[in-house]
Amino acid sequence: MKKITIAIDGYSSTGKSTVAKQLADYLGYIYVDSGAMYRAVTLFAMQNGIISKENFDFEKLKKLLPSIQLEFKKKPDWSKAHIFLNGKDVENDIRNLEVSEFVSPIATIPEVRTKLVAQQQEMGLLKGVVMDGRDIGTVVFPNAELKIFMNASAEKRAERRYKELTDRGDSVKFKDVLRNIEERDNIDTTRKDSPLKKASDAIEIDNSDINIEDQFHTVLQLAKDRI
Ligand code: C5P
Repeated sequence: MKKITIAIDGYSSTGKSTVAKQLADYLGYIYVDSGAMYRAVTLFAMQNGIISKENFDFEKLKKLLPSIQLEFKKKPDWSKAHIFLNGKDVENDIRNLEVSEFVSPIATIPEVRTKLVAQQQEMGLLKGVVMDGRDIGTVVFPNAELKIFMNASAEKRAERRYKELTDRGDSVKFKDVLRNIEERDNIDTTRKDSPLKKASDAIEIDNSDINIEDQFHTVLQLAKDRI
């Protein structure tokens, strides 16, 4: 069967990764969470004193970029894949609100994007890939056979994110989660390099009121139509 490239972009916490993982496991494709890569670079920056509330040393980060190695490992399905930063499993460490606070500024740095986009394109060379992020349909795979652009109201997204964080035991306030989502939307859509926007040939799905099952079947049908 023909293998295609599926690009899923959209605002923060729209459930992109949920549907992307379901598709990858169903179709036997690779799943790449590109946001996890930006988050891992952010964690690296935090661990190396490059970024904190008081300090943003972007020049140091640019110099250290070659020493950052990222890898995804299936566990055993793509829906349970973990990201490794320089050989260490950081899947859990990259999901907290602190990393979320710093990730969008880090993702504005063109040198960071160039490095990560190159790795993402390499992972998609053989097709049979589902990748989610902000610039997948516009920059990483402009020729993807299927492009989805996901959206939902900020309130709905914050509710989902808040539940995710509190379910894993993080102590966070709803208003901080909502503020972070709105701030990231703003930085992601207004940055100079590869801003978040719907590709002209992407299919938009607003999932504020759609359940996960229905959403999966809609996107799966769109994929099947192209295979
Ligand atoms: O997808 P997730 O919310 O984990 O992404 C975290 C952040 O990484 C986004 O808010 C955005 O700033 C950045 N990102 C990006 N380009 C991508 C994926 C994520 O700029 N392709």
